[in-house]
Amino acid sequence: MLKESVEKALNEQINKEFYSAYLYLSMSAWFQTKGLNGFANWMTVQYKEELTHAEKFFAYVNNRSGKVTLAPIAGVPVEFKDVQSIFEYTLEHEQKVTASIDALMDTAIAAGDHATQSFLKWFVDEQVEEESNVQEILDTLRLINGQVNGIFMLNRELGARNFVDDTTASAS
Ligand code: FEO
Repeated sequence: MLKESVEKALNEQINKEFYSAYLYLSMSAWFQTKGLNGFANWMTVQYKEELTHAEKFFAYVNNRSGKVTLAPIAGVPVEFKDVQSIFEYTLEHEQKVTASIDALMDTAIAAGDHATQSFLKWFVDEQVEEESNVQEILDTLRLINGQVNGIFMLNRELGARNFVDDTTASAS
């Protein structure tokens, strides 16, 4: 049985994961209008990953006999300045998600909820991966410094990313 404080924080995180999905789908749409289909593909894969994160929280709340309460998803930006600023925005966003997962862990610790702490470890590790992936792309973009050839090469590289559902790697 989940304590109220933990259930509330988990429900808020479900909303944040859906928001993230919506945000990345919006970025994918922007890239598609610019003809940068590789970048768009990377963002679409990111969108799908976020959906699996939301679903993992959803299943966990249900498994603990809690109540999932789905709140409205806030609107996301639909216009962006350029390729690099999108990845700067993405990194900032993932850093916020990391802070949110950390706060959720603190709530679980304060509640003495060991099962939720164990469950959240997957997300703690996932956030390290998320931030690192985005940082790497951002570093490359800074080197490219807006040069068209570099953008097209990176576009091709990011077009090869495939969606893999890794939320089931350590069953929770
Ligand atoms: Fe669900 Fe991008 O973290």
